Amino acid sequence: MAQQKRLAVVTGAARGIGKAITLELLAQGREVAGLDLNAKQLKELEKCASEAGYSVITKCVDITKTSELCEILNALAKEHGGIGILVNNAGITRDKLMMQMEEDDYDLLMAVNLKAAFMATKTVIRSMIRNKFGRIVNISSVAGVMGQAGSTNYAASKAGLIGMTKSIVREVAKKNITANCIAPGFILTEMTKVLPDMVKDAAKQVIPARSFGSPEDVAKAVAFLASDDSGYINGQVLCVDGGMAM
Ligand code: NAI
Repeated sequence: MAQQKRLAVVTGAARGIGKAITLELLAQGREVAGLDLNAKQLKELEKCASEAGYSVITKCVDITKTSELCEILNALAKEHGGIGILVNNAGITRDKLMMQMEEDDYDLLMAVNLKAAFMATKTVIRSMIRNKFGRIVNISSVAGVMGQAGSTNYAASKAGLIGMTKSIVREVAKKNITANCIAPGFILTEMTKVLPDMVKDAAKQVIPARSFGSPEDVAKAVAFLASDDSGYINGQVLCVDGGMAM
């Protein structure tokens, strides 16, 4: 199947990095389904795509409801002859010092950042094996590589994605399936907008580039790992971080 014809699924597609990934994959001529729980922002994504001359499939779903998530993925795979690309991008933060962190904050974050990615991958991998092609890109974080005070739950989920990615490779690489992680550093989105200026200033001091990245910086790297050109790159963690985690 021509690479453009393979359906790409992006979770957390309605804004920020997920939106940029969706628009970049559309610009490359792919069919893309964007999943998110924010119906209003999904409509805005549709509008944005249409203004750029593309059409995007959107599905409103809370990915922690894993049976709904898997049902949607199975239906998409059936309609499109499989899912060729899966980008597990949706993620949340629930930052607090570990001593103050509530169990509920840990559980919800893990459900979004790690369990949903596991369930989505488990669901789409069958059609990838059948079609002898798959590109899985998991959006981790430099927090999962370096650790981050105040984000123990988040860092654990992002490090978990890295271990999961490498294990997937050991299971299915011989079926022409790749799984890689992108570990963004400090990217300007709604997620980071809310951080106090003091935290942002301190972050800049540890980034050799002395600047923050854009969602598009991450989207370009995802598009490469999702392409046919990256077929021999497997189980890697690509930091898109201005040199922060090297
Ligand atoms: P964002 O908060 O702007 O966007 C996240 C999207 O995920 C939103 O559209 C939200 O509605 C969706 N989402 C959240 N929970 C969901 C659920 N239960 N079901 C369906 N959709 C859900 O975040 P941003 O900055 O775009 O981050 C995207 C990914 O990149 C996340 O995994 C984040 O951890 C990761 N990342 C972001 C960094 C940054 O500096 N912005 C740095 C490192 C990693």
